[in-house]
Amino acid sequence: MASVRVEALTKRFGDRQVVNKVSFQVADGAFAVMLGPSGSGKTTLLRCIAGLELPDSGSVYIGDVLMDELSPRERDLSMVFQNYSLFPHMSVKANLAFPLVVRHRPRGEVEERVRRTAELLRIEQHLDKRPNQLSGGEQQRVSLGRAIIREPRAFLMDEPLSGLDAPLKLQMRAELKRVQRETKLTTIYVTHDQVEGMGLASVLGVMNEGELIQYDAPAEVYARPRNAFVAGFVGNPPASLLEAEVREENGNLELRGDGFTYRVGEDLARALKGNTDRVIIGVKPEGVKLVRAQRAPNDIDGVLDYTEDFGSTVIAHLRIGQGSISASIPPQEGIGLEAGARVGVRWDAEKLSFFDARSSERIV
Ligand SMILES: Nc1ncnc2c1ncn2[C@@H]1O[C@H](COP(=O)(O)OP(=O)(O)OP(=O)(O)O)[C@@H](O)[C@H]1O
Ligand SMILES: [Mg+2]
Repeated sequence: MASVRVEALTKRFGDRQVVNKVSFQVADGAFAVMLGPSGSGKTTLLRCIAGLELPDSGSVYIGDVLMDELSPRERDLSMVFQNYSLFPHMSVKANLAFPLVVRHRPRGEVEERVRRTAELLRIEQHLDKRPNQLSGGEQQRVSLGRAIIREPRAFLMDEPLSGLDAPLKLQMRAELKRVQRETKLTTIYVTHDQVEGMGLASVLGVMNEGELIQYDAPAEVYARPRNAFVAGFVGNPPASLLEAEVREENGNLELRGDGFTYRVGEDLARALKGNTDRVIIGVKPEGVKLVRAQRAPNDIDGVLDYTEDFGSTVIAHLRIGQGSISASIPPQEGIGLEAGARVGVRWDAEKLSFFDARSSERIV
């Protein structure tokens, strides 16, 4: 096990910069998740770390040792891909043992490690079966087992759960967390699924168009997104983004957007004043209240589009002017809410983020 450090890593395909000066460090034993939309460069970044792809510039260190000249095998990392290509003609046991057998480990050690790995992944009862006799989740466990059996220095995973159905995904997420905690394997995991990413990460990176935009504890990324892209990407559902003009009206600062005017408090006014004349407001779903009576001056007119009932919470999708926002409300407040209903929308000022509309960078 070891720490992993990536320094100013850049990778081009033709004239396209697919990974752009990416730097980050994963502490020994940490679970780092790189989250980003399709095409943001996650797989390419991982392949560069593994040595399967040659970067144009930048460096990779494992445990403070420079890897740039080393082959994938010399780097001693393990990688699991989305399609967990097990050998179909071999038993589960032989699949697990494979990485040790090709390294000519003694038979006793192989037996012992297969036993321990099978126990860790709870697949002891499947050891004599062939992969096609296993469910998707069981196959995925075998492929995880095969990746960690030789105790690599770090573990790289590329969307390993994307082939599984929702309940199995949930179960495997819990398993992965447990296995990582028990093995203390330094892990870098990439996914476009932000629920999966937030749930697994001890440290979370958000990538967009080849850049690592933010790299921090998941709670910090959620609470203080670095720019509007991050705000609109993390969270379930993510924050809604509304553009507004910053105007001074009778000595007060107002944000005026399509279908709403929002007067800002003193602290926020100080932060915004003279800073920018257009902002993007990030509205977190739990920071929105629906009010049907007793409207306050800063309440906004909304129209209910539709609701999604998740049992413990209801997500109300609302229209404000031409824009739309999501609100997370207690189920009892969703009762009797009909599509097309006019409702008052009240923002919790504490739960709002503000970004410069031009640079998209966070202001407050
Ligand atoms: N070998 C290659 N040659 C040319 N372009 C490539 C190559 N591999 C990847 N790309 C391009 O680089 C960009 C980033 O690809 P990458 O596979 O790293 O994205 P990703 O974030 O893993 O996406 P996904 O979530 O869909 O897996 C994409 O636009 C892709 O088309
Ligand atoms: Mg990918």
